Amino acid sequence: MSAQGQEPRPRLLSELQAHAHELPPFTPQIVSWVKWSIDRLPKDNPKILTDTFYRLLFELAPNTRSMFPEDLTPQRDRLFGALIAAAKGLEQPERVEQALRRWGVTHQRTHGVTEEMYVYVGQALVRTFKELLTGTDSMVMSSWVSVYQWMAAVMIDEAQKAALVDQNPESLMGPWHEEQPVSDQQLHAEDYATVVTQLRPRRDRAEAARRRAAGG
Ligand code: HEM
Repeated sequence: MSAQGQEPRPRLLSELQAHAHELPPFTPQIVSWVKWSIDRLPKDNPKILTDTFYRLLFELAPNTRSMFPEDLTPQRDRLFGALIAAAKGLEQPERVEQALRRWGVTHQRTHGVTEEMYVYVGQALVRTFKELLTGTDSMVMSSWVSVYQWMAAVMIDEAQKAALVDQNPESLMGPWHEEQPVSDQQLHAEDYATVVTQLRPRRDRAEAARRRAAGG
């Protein structure tokens, strides 16, 4: 594939959020471009993936460095691995969406992620593919932008709901909390194995905090 055109830029977050409740804005063709690019990442050298992604992220947003552990080897990486795993599960977007919604809450409550940071992570992600897959077509890049914009919009949407609940615990009675989430294992057993193990204690803490806030 040959490099063409300019790198697509993320749309404004407000515009993204307006679409968070719509169907995923990507077609099977977009999903296949994204998967095509994942398949071509250097699997024999996972370190170059994480090195490139986090280098780009910390160049774009140095203030995010302290949010991550010192050791960002592939074995310890959780963010980049999750982005790739979520993209691999896109044939079942409703399952990915449920996971994204839970992560949106943990990102807001546990990691203190701001909306602006989602833009930088998206740029680091797209640039990682551009650097590692030389000659990547602009179709691949714009496919990643579509997919990432949707992921970020869903996470931000749920983070905002969590923030409202934190401010007003009585709103816990809403349908949001009655939903039965699809388990991470159902979503993508193989890719999520590590993430789930690490996520569970944090999720349990978030649940306990919610129960306390609700007086339960
Ligand atoms: C669509 C976008 C994103 C996805 C799918 C995603 C997914 C994940 C997942 C699944 C985890 C591990 C579970 C957890 O700790 O909650 C994680 C960890 C983390 N994410 Fe994200 N994330 C996204 C965006 C962001 C953004 C914008 C930031 C801000 C810099 C961020 C910062 C972090 C941090 C600091 C961790 C913990 C790292 C660690 O302790 O190893 N994430 N992410």
